[in-house]
Amino acid sequence: MQLRIFKDYPALSDAVASEIVELAKSNPEAVFCFASGDTPRMAFTMLAAKAREEQVSFDRCTFIGLDEWVGIPPENEGSCHSFLHTTVFKSLHISPNKIHLFNAMSNELFKQCETMDKLIRDIGGIDLMVVGIGMNGHIGFNEPGIPFDKYSHVANLDETTQSVGQKYFKQNSSLKQGITVGLQHLMEAREVILMANGAKKAPIIKKAVEGEVNNDVPASIMQLHEQGWVMVDEEAASLLED
Ligand code: F6R
Repeated sequence: MQLRIFKDYPALSDAVASEIVELAKSNPEAVFCFASGDTPRMAFTMLAAKAREEQVSFDRCTFIGLDEWVGIPPENEGSCHSFLHTTVFKSLHISPNKIHLFNAMSNELFKQCETMDKLIRDIGGIDLMVVGIGMNGHIGFNEPGIPFDKYSHVANLDETTQSVGQKYFKQNSSLKQGITVGLQHLMEAREVILMANGAKKAPIIKKAVEGEVNNDVPASIMQLHEQGWVMVDEEAASLLED
């Protein structure tokens, strides 16, 4: 794992957008797996502008959605589905057959996990994951206590995730479960960027980066990834040593 600290959120977002563009330039068939949430929003907005300016095509790339809230329909603005369509897929003109998202409305969520695992296997793995970190140290919906060697699964969301998650929704929503790509996928991804910004993420970033590696803080798995980049702004880095 390597740590990169940026002056502020726009500088961090710009750097992440550039990493994505550079990968698409060097590998036009790259497989991306993206988180939703507040953290990557600006990077994804910048990505669309950069792709246009540099005339980089994402047509042959594949996009996998990291996770989804179980029982939240895709048209709900708070869904991961809606976020990724609005911030990434529409602006990059990605064709639907290149987009793979969990159907969290399915009655057979286990099958959704199997399908996702097979897809990732058949496509030859993920080239770049861009993820955030929850206030409880989760990545995707890999909640505290999750074994590091799990692939896609349905998670019971802990109280922090349920309450913090309300910020994405206009109306109070029931957020009991999530469906997510697993930490074993993260370890097998060729490159992973974990982004964090703002002072509120400083305590959990300190635990993830400098604490013991264990599944009480799932994001501490980043310390084990040889091509893992923890990219943070100065505020999120403010509790780190030196
Ligand atoms: C969302 C996701 C979550 C978020 C995390 C941080 O797809 O995977 O793990 O990355 O909860 O959320 P924000 O970025 O809103 O602080």
